Amino acid sequence: MLQGRRILLIISGGIAAYKSLELIRRLRDQGAAVRCVMTEAARQFITPLSVASLSEDKVYGDLWSLTDESEMGHIRLSREADLLVVAPATADLIARMSAGIADDLAATTLLASDKPVLIAPAMNAMMWAHPATQANLAVLASRGVGRIGPAAGDLACGEVGFGRMSEPAEIVAEIARFLVKNQRLSGRRALVTSGPTREPIDPVRYISNHSSGKQGHAIAAALAALGAETVLVSGPTSEPTPAGVKLIGIETAAEMLSASEAALPVDVAVMAAAVSDWRVASSSTQKLKKNGKGPPNLRLVENPDILASIAGRSNDRPALVIGFAAETENVVANARAKRKRKGCDWIVANDVSPGTGTFGGERNTVHLVHADTVEDWPAMSKRDVAERLAERIAAALVPDTAAAPASPRVPGAGH
Ligand code: CTP
Repeated sequence: MLQGRRILLIISGGIAAYKSLELIRRLRDQGAAVRCVMTEAARQFITPLSVASLSEDKVYGDLWSLTDESEMGHIRLSREADLLVVAPATADLIARMSAGIADDLAATTLLASDKPVLIAPAMNAMMWAHPATQANLAVLASRGVGRIGPAAGDLACGEVGFGRMSEPAEIVAEIARFLVKNQRLSGRRALVTSGPTREPIDPVRYISNHSSGKQGHAIAAALAALGAETVLVSGPTSEPTPAGVKLIGIETAAEMLSASEAALPVDVAVMAAAVSDWRVASSSTQKLKKNGKGPPNLRLVENPDILASIAGRSNDRPALVIGFAAETENVVANARAKRKRKGCDWIVANDVSPGTGTFGGERNTVHLVHADTVEDWPAMSKRDVAERLAERIAAALVPDTAAAPASPRVPGAGH
């Protein structure tokens, strides 16, 4: 099942580390090559000798070993793997991953990697529930890091609750599912626009909007997680760049259009950006000063419609062009009209009525408007909307690949 797959297993220090030995054995039974990195703390729980014997490879752990660095540095450890699995992932390593700290070989390898990462957390229930851990997990999720478990049950510390590392068999099944799912869009190219645009008035002022980029970035992350070569053209946001995504930062609608055109050809284009409809006809190169003659008259001109122009291309139109529509009333009817007007294939219509909390919020209620049908999706996190949309895209572009079951959600562990 995992024949030829190369897994870099990062073992951090928790009592669950003993399960990693069985995990290595099971992964090898499935045909995977397993190379291991152990943290200093992991060595307190299991010996590098057992890990080396089971993996039949050298065990890595020392950031400062000249031999390791010359033979197999942290960059190569990640480059030579298809997937990084952190099991057990302690609260400490999760925190270091979230903060981008690189103070040992495990953390440095994770920071220097552009490969997909799955974590199998293991910790005490109080540590799991702590807002610091939950915030760190949310950051990792927003960067596209996948999670397996933890499960509820008796913990080594004598307490009962969430925090038990998932069983090795379950972790192996999730790894296999992830790798299959991960490949469905491999060899395909995707373009996603996200965030607001900024249209300058003068060197210090601009016209913009409140778009957070959360939905667009989540879509880019979900497409990259399915293996698509993904270009994300985004206006200024505070969202982290998802793993495996090529970010092109722009400010104006004109820049977004040329960056989007430069990304062609692609198989799918998802235009989730909130593009400013207008720009100042001639923005001032000098700061506008109060000159005693009252406020300046700003003449606005219309910006190019990026969605319509990508959808209208004759030679290199993407096979699938998807737009967004922000509506407060007659959501589906307006979105249908917008789909036709802009010439795109699907429209994701969001209800942005006051009270839905869509703008800047974590959740979204959408309808996926096709040419003839409409899917009404329940309210869900923006990440779930992104994953479901990516699944629909994969099904449309590569219809013969069956959808893999979604990764498990852990009750009580909100994203
Ligand atoms: N869009 C674009 N370029 C523009 C304007 C919009 O690519 N200059 C895209 C957006 O990324 C989104 C869709 O078009 O996919 C939204 O279209 P728009 O006409 O702006 O709709 P709303 O934002 O819903 O606003 P309105 O209803 O006022 O038209």
